[in-house]
Amino acid sequence: MKPRDHYLRLLHDHVSNPKMIAHCLASEAVMKALTRRFGENEEAWGMAGLLHDIDVEKTGGDSLRHGPEGAAMLQDEGLPADVLDAIRLHNEKAVREKRSTLFQHALAAGETVTGLIFAVALVYPDKKISSVKTKSVTKRMKEKLFAASVNRDAILECEQIGIPLNEFAALALEALSPIEEELGF
Ligand SMILES: [Fe+2]
Repeated sequence: MKPRDHYLRLLHDHVSNPKMIAHCLASEAVMKALTRRFGENEEAWGMAGLLHDIDVEKTGGDSLRHGPEGAAMLQDEGLPADVLDAIRLHNEKAVREKRSTLFQHALAAGETVTGLIFAVALVYPDKKISSVKTKSVTKRMKEKLFAASVNRDAILECEQIGIPLNEFAALALEALSPIEEELGF
């Protein structure tokens, strides 16, 4: 793998929307937090979080291309095969395969929970992630109309990797609170 700076620059080369960059940085932080729980490779999981949406502007929201195209863009960037696979499979709509590994489920759940947390923080009076209670996240999970574009099924893949939803939400909040200013909160 190359240094993080290299991959961050690459991300900025392909993604200009600051909200999208914030989502990528948040996904990186959640993935790193998950490696601490599982004893996995922090650098590799962090990069999967940081880079998983690198094709988002190139594919222009085409859900049949998003994911595999990103993995293809990153193919010669020195990333381990499991990172590329997790990126390719984080959008199952674009592939014929199902997610099966710990890493793949972690990326799908981890990147998606950041969207729910951002939305919950924005309806808090102070709009701060650090104010958000775990319970608000789990409550909003059940409200299908709240942040309706956030895929609840993807978040619930946390249970397939042995983390109950409330613990998963708490872990993500703990990962995001210290960097909320960098994320624009
Ligand atoms: Fe994403």
